[in-house]
Amino acid sequence: MAKEKIVYVCKNCSYQSSSFLGKCPECGAWGTFEELVNTNTTSSKKNVEKQGFKLPKPISNINYSENIRLNVEDKELNRVLGGGLVVGSVVLIGGEPGIGKSTLLLQIALKIKNRTVLYVSGEESEEQIKLRQLRMKESSDSCLVLAETNIENILSASDEVNPSIIIIDSIQTITTSEIENYAGSITQVRTCADKLIDYAKNKNIPIILVGHITKDGMLAGPKILEHMVDTVLQFEGDKNYGYRILRSIKNRFGSTNEIGIYEMTSFGLQCVENPSKVLLSQREEELSGVAICATVEGKRTILIETQALVSPTYYSSPQRISNGFDIRRMNMLLAVLEKKAGVKVSNKDVFLNIAGGLRVNDPAIDLSIIASIISSHQDTPIDKKYCFAAEVGLSGEIRPIPYVDRRVNEAAAMGFKKIFLSKYNKDNLQEKIKNIESVFISSINDLVETIIK
Ligand code: TYD
Ligand code: MG
Repeated sequence: MAKEKIVYVCKNCSYQSSSFLGKCPECGAWGTFEELVNTNTTSSKKNVEKQGFKLPKPISNINYSENIRLNVEDKELNRVLGGGLVVGSVVLIGGEPGIGKSTLLLQIALKIKNRTVLYVSGEESEEQIKLRQLRMKESSDSCLVLAETNIENILSASDEVNPSIIIIDSIQTITTSEIENYAGSITQVRTCADKLIDYAKNKNIPIILVGHITKDGMLAGPKILEHMVDTVLQFEGDKNYGYRILRSIKNRFGSTNEIGIYEMTSFGLQCVENPSKVLLSQREEELSGVAICATVEGKRTILIETQALVSPTYYSSPQRISNGFDIRRMNMLLAVLEKKAGVKVSNKDVFLNIAGGLRVNDPAIDLSIIASIISSHQDTPIDKKYCFAAEVGLSGEIRPIPYVDRRVNEAAAMGFKKIFLSKYNKDNLQEKIKNIESVFISSINDLVETIIK
């Protein structure tokens, strides 16, 4: 019998060590090491591969089929995947508990009517899944449900029904009888994922895995899971708001800039087709501390509201709280504002919020954040027909951003009359867009002068 080899793996960064360590020398995390048993199956697999090796061939001789992407009947998910689910690929969807992963996947299983979809749940019973289906008011005869946690049983059941897509909810609950570790341990997760990836490639069908996220936002279980699969999507959003964002973190078959936006309703997740419309609050009066930014996420342009509250502090060090925007970047923008525009914020508490519970990575949001902070600081509202899109540099300069045409067009379509851009973007604006005036500025001082009436 081949000897079992044990290594210890850091769950945080997948660093491997031959002995157990309290602190990871690679990423510095404490208590993240877990035993990983390299089972005999992997070594015997290597031998088989050695005996029946394949000869490399010229890339031009490789056959491929045009129809390698399956339509998942969900506009948002199709877009985030890069145009559909690639056959033979494995997709991992991560997200906090209760964010809506099971809802999204059962919904897709029900919407794909012309193909057999096998929905395997290790977390819920058949009755619970049935109740969820009734809630969604969607039904399908080609959606097969299996409440099972043993990988060997799952794959045998799959061999019987020959599905076109398999959904596993969740990978942390699935175990193999080959090893004795508990469900969710690194060894179990890795071995089961390995088997599923092999199965997907051999049968040429896509598999979607659900992965849980720990409190600090990491995919629970080994980081190596992210390296093993083809695509990693993250489902996020503030549970108190109805909106959910599906973000692509890794995609071997598409762009990673794409996002999908959903709204959680009483009958499942609905695709949000015009996000700008729903994300801008329908306010009649002008409020101080509110500014609108034209952001670009993948193929879409979205108008988002940034809100700031600046108030005198009663503490020795002022409070800085940010929702949906990187707090270090907010501190940097505050320092720039104080030093370059003379807006004194060092003795003020600053609270920042991106409306709708979204998280924005587009640097073009800087100018809108600065504008909302100035507006709240001076307690003067910004004209509600104004919109912003530019990055702010460390010396207070307004920096250019890509896709200006798209941003200006979207702002005009949503009825905005003025958009503030960097002067370096002037030449990028291809055409004169009707009904909106583009204001090109070069420093935050220009902004303070123009927006405060
Ligand atoms: P769920 O899909 O179970 O989350 P996850 O699998 O990520 O843990 O989503 C659970 C939440 O969604 C729960 O709080 C109830 C809510 N929900 C709705 O609001 N409407 C619905 O139609 C469904 C099915 C769930
Ligand atoms: Mg679930």
